[in-house]
Amino acid sequence: MSEEERSESKVEQSSLRNPALSESGRKKIEWVAAHMPVLAEIKKLHGSKRPLQGKRVAVCLHLEAKTAYMALVIKELGAEVAITGSNPLSTQDDVAAGLASMGVQVHSWYGASSAEYNDFLNKVLDFEPDLIIDDGGDLVAKLHTERRDLLPRIVGGAEETTTGIHRLRAMEASGELAFPMMAVNDAHCKYLFDNRYGTGQSVWDGIMRTSNLLVAGKTAVVVGYGWCGKGVALRAKGLGARVVICEIDPIKSTEAWMDGFEVMKMERAAEVGDFFVTVTGCTDVIRREHLERIKDGAILANAGHFDVEISKADLTSLSEEQDEVRQNIRRYRFTDGRSVYLLADGRLVNLAAGDGHPAEIMDMTFALQVSSLLYLNEHPGLEARVYKIPERIDRQVAALMLTSLGIEIDRLTDAQVEYLKSWQQGT
Ligand code: ADE
Repeated sequence: MSEEERSESKVEQSSLRNPALSESGRKKIEWVAAHMPVLAEIKKLHGSKRPLQGKRVAVCLHLEAKTAYMALVIKELGAEVAITGSNPLSTQDDVAAGLASMGVQVHSWYGASSAEYNDFLNKVLDFEPDLIIDDGGDLVAKLHTERRDLLPRIVGGAEETTTGIHRLRAMEASGELAFPMMAVNDAHCKYLFDNRYGTGQSVWDGIMRTSNLLVAGKTAVVVGYGWCGKGVALRAKGLGARVVICEIDPIKSTEAWMDGFEVMKMERAAEVGDFFVTVTGCTDVIRREHLERIKDGAILANAGHFDVEISKADLTSLSEEQDEVRQNIRRYRFTDGRSVYLLADGRLVNLAAGDGHPAEIMDMTFALQVSSLLYLNEHPGLEARVYKIPERIDRQVAALMLTSLGIEIDRLTDAQVEYLKSWQQGT
């Protein structure tokens, strides 16, 4: 079969909203590819050896252009790839069509119902993968429940997010994890850049393009001061907002205060905030008792993996009316006359109402993902545990990023190496 025929057959095997959108999708993929030099370098370093030849890789990730480019890199390393989205509202239908036309099996569309989302997860598993990439843990969860027949053939996988790694650690602790998983989220080159600067930029991009409202001079309440929350707060400050942090951890709360932010309980923040961004990974962080006090006109957005952080049940029960006032903005009109506005149905605002993190950020994250697959492929038979990304890989990704930026850094001299080895320093 020619390459063209193979690509055509992938489109036929795929589940797409509209295959005719492929040209727009291809252009989006080409644009980001030109801004992802680290991944291109990894492809160049390994591509000619096709180390993943004969392997099948199933991917469950937010299906936008950067993800599509990563899938193509994995394909160029020799693997066959099947992909689905990791959130019903983050798939871009044109990108999905473009990717399928480039030889990857795609099962996903924007606005998938729960049944469709579930069906798409099953379809990428029907592909019988050897390796997987997951974002949030849905693929791993399905493999360990309904699709246990496939467990013996899985060499391992890599997980993208904090939420997914929490789920994996729970499985590891209870002895239920059946294959090795690489914790991409915990690599320095992930959380320091993707969680902080990626989330910081993409969340405000999503909020601003959706609402078209001014941030300067307003009060932004950031709920959760992990690496993502730090980024969201930092960018809110840069945009001229007054920033309030709500955080349950005393150390992170102290850090937020010393970073120059106001720290308070949600019941007080509810009364002063204009924008609310939840990024905790927990459920019901904005709930009835807060909504009863919330300022009229407040804008609510979530940046955590699941749409559980802002209670939609409480919003509904307090409301006499709901309507879509603008694309991706739902107004809840309360019985006492106040209104609040929920963006993107409480789904990840940066992906459901935006394009996700900037290309240069996802370049590093996806370089870690691809390097993790290569590592697992080179180390078959690893125990079923959650693994740190090897220091060598983390450093290689940072070094490639610096090279792509044209930045050179100093190295230790031999004398400095000796000095640092000695316990008699300073004498
Ligand atoms: N694009 C693809 N995956 C993403 C993620 N986890 N966060 C932000 N943007 C993304």
